[in-house]
Amino acid sequence: MAKPFLLCIGHRGAMGHEPENTLRSLRKALALGAKCVEIDVYHVDGRLVVIHDDRLERTTNGAGFVMDQSFAYLRSLDAGLGERIPTLEEVCGLVDGKAGLNIELKGPGTSLPTALVVARLAQAGFDRDAFLVSSFNHRELELMRQADPGIRLGVLAGTHLEQGLGLAERLGAFSVHLPMEAVNRAGVGQAHDNGLMVYAYTVNRASDLARMHAYGVDGVFTNYPERVLERYGQGDGSAWWPGRDDRT
Ligand code: G3P
Ligand code: MG
Repeated sequence: MAKPFLLCIGHRGAMGHEPENTLRSLRKALALGAKCVEIDVYHVDGRLVVIHDDRLERTTNGAGFVMDQSFAYLRSLDAGLGERIPTLEEVCGLVDGKAGLNIELKGPGTSLPTALVVARLAQAGFDRDAFLVSSFNHRELELMRQADPGIRLGVLAGTHLEQGLGLAERLGAFSVHLPMEAVNRAGVGQAHDNGLMVYAYTVNRASDLARMHAYGVDGVFTNYPERVLERYGQGDGSAWWPGRDDRT
């Protein structure tokens, strides 16, 4: 019997196994078979760098605010097991043709540089349909929409689903992303009625996966892609980010 559908999005790669937001973590997510992967970006010193926190201490051997540093300093740091902080371009090079890529715009001023990278890569043959750009920063999402009318957008709604749905409608977004604690059947139904996919984070336990699936959630961000993949199917493989009609 076919497995029920629940899209597997590797959270910061496969951060349950490897240092988060590193190429090593992304390689692990791909090796485990994640259909999609998620990363966080900041714009620093003219470059898009892949890191989650606004400070360096938790995930690297550096110190201070990410945005106060030079690109050279950031690249000199150890982001875990000898890995460097990757650039967005390096991540795209790694996942090209292997997974959908959710770029979360974490830092301010990330939308326009991201739009430029996406445009440059698309010109070089990268499949634009692989991208999903999301943010908690709704201004960045609006700017991203202005810069790229066609890009797939995801609204990180936190616990404010209603606000998120309003913004998603204005932006013509593809998805709304919610912490799993804020997910309920009614909210998922409302998002679906508005034509949106619903992705929940961060879902690692079998019981939570089952609950998200029962609520009608379309996909989950997970630190352990294998836990999703052993229980849930990923569609027919033709779309990186399957819509509700693209599933088999
Ligand atoms: O986009 C899902 C998730 O990444 C949002 O939370 O804090 O892990 O970036 P965070
Ligand atoms: Mg994130």
